[in-house]
Amino acid sequence: MNLRIFENVDELIRGAARTIVERADDGTSIALSGGSTPKPLYELLGKNDELLQKKITWVVVDERYVPLSDPQSNAAMIERALFANGKPPNHRFLRFKTEMNDPAATAAEFEREWRDHGLNDLDIVILGMGDDGHTASLFPGTTALAVEDRIATEVWVEKVKMWRVTITKPVIRAAKLRMVLAAGESKREMLKQIRDGADVPIVQATNGLETWWFVDKAATPDVW
Ligand code: 6PG
Repeated sequence: MNLRIFENVDELIRGAARTIVERADDGTSIALSGGSTPKPLYELLGKNDELLQKKITWVVVDERYVPLSDPQSNAAMIERALFANGKPPNHRFLRFKTEMNDPAATAAEFEREWRDHGLNDLDIVILGMGDDGHTASLFPGTTALAVEDRIATEVWVEKVKMWRVTITKPVIRAAKLRMVLAAGESKREMLKQIRDGADVPIVQATNGLETWWFVDKAATPDVW
């Protein structure tokens, strides 16, 4: 496991931003998870002129099935953070269209647009990790974990009592690089379980593949 331990979340975010800026080039595709941890990263990337001048395709990793206007919307959070000064003309943004009001149709439309964009294996995918070991909207015990033949799928997540739409495990595993961001005390127990072999979705989505874990000291078990 390629583990990078940072003093605090600010340094973690700066380290992740450096990695992305260094690896991004014209034509790079970068998939972005939702949640709270990566928001400052997207704000930092949105201010990086070097990055903004490149031809980048941004892809939303997963979405809560709510309108763009809902505070829970990942796409809205990402757009506000990354495109605070407007989306550069040479950037593309692929999101889940929850305005279709049909999770299965939204997932199918996402896949259609993915193919329209000529996307293949993602260059970078930014992943978070829930304290239950979920990543994207691949929650433990859900049907999404078994989807191997689609780019995206809809999934009912009982734990949060909502529909989600998400890129699938094979798409995450086919990316050239996975970057997992895990910060804060609440992630420490799950990281400890992963160190001890827990077979949770974040492990199933990354094991055996080029994956860089960006963690802060608060999330890091004493012995690793
Ligand atoms: C979401 C995310 C989800 C997130 C984890 C970690 O839609 O919520 O895609 O998978 O990455 O829940 O979230 P935090 O980074 O906020 O802890």
